[in-house]
Amino acid sequence: MHKIAILGAGRVGTALARRALSAGFEVRVATSRPAADNAFMLQIVAPGAIAASAEEAIAESDIVVLALPLSKYRNLKPELLQGKIVVDAMNYWAPTDGTLAEFDGAASSSEVVQRFLKGARLVRSFNHLGYHEIEDAARPQGHAERRAMAVAGDDPQANPVVAAFVDRLGFDPVLSGGLASSRLFAGGTPVFGAAMTRSEMEDHLGLSSENLA
Ligand SMILES: NC(=O)c1ccc[n+]([C@@H]2O[C@H](COP(=O)([O-])OP(=O)(O)OC[C@H]3O[C@@H](n4cnc5c(N)ncnc54)[C@H](OP(=O)(O)O)[C@@H]3O)[C@@H](O)[C@H]2O)c1
Repeated sequence: MHKIAILGAGRVGTALARRALSAGFEVRVATSRPAADNAFMLQIVAPGAIAASAEEAIAESDIVVLALPLSKYRNLKPELLQGKIVVDAMNYWAPTDGTLAEFDGAASSSEVVQRFLKGARLVRSFNHLGYHEIEDAARPQGHAERRAMAVAGDDPQANPVVAAFVDRLGFDPVLSGGLASSRLFAGGTPVFGAAMTRSEMEDHLGLSSENLA
């Protein structure tokens, strides 16, 4: 697993691109615009990242990261993502996304996105830290300040792949369960935006041995 596609070249997409490049991944970045429109910008902000169309980036990737505004998720093409491991880094934030009725229900935003992207192997992660922290907070394995990163998904084979990706990018993965459990680290939860070690996050997600006993 060494080829990453990032859909979105804004704050999160470019920070993830730089971090993944530093960690040795081959990175393609696509937006809703033609690849040529992004090439110069990427040379400046994420040197080494390849500007691509969504079609090419997805086809060439082992893992696809969704780093576009959630309000735009219906512009994604589900047929391109069939069978792909897809990391959902998106959050619902009504002041910027506008009010979207489908995200106001009991389901997590990732379950809504998964229903749309039928056949994709969706895993929620990277959504609960600020874009600048993707680079600033990354630490090597075993470092005392290494932060935890929640990972939730319904596909039992995709979850460990994303956990390994999280680990290579400098964070301790914490598997919280299925996509429904990603509500526990969505906006407004104690985990969102907080710097936590693995054991602190396990406590907050109800995964510590006391809670599981
Ligand atoms: N900002 C944060 O600290 C942070 C942290 C964690 C998670 N998030 C989540 O990450 C997502 C991105 O946030 P951001 O702050 O990076 O947003 P942003 O700076 O506004 O960037 C959004 C990017 O998505 C692209 N885009 C729009 N439609 C697209 C499509 N159909 N396919 C591919 N790319 C598309 C945009 O480019 P074009 O319009 O040119 O296509 C732009 O490059 C949001 O869902 C947000 O909730 C944000």
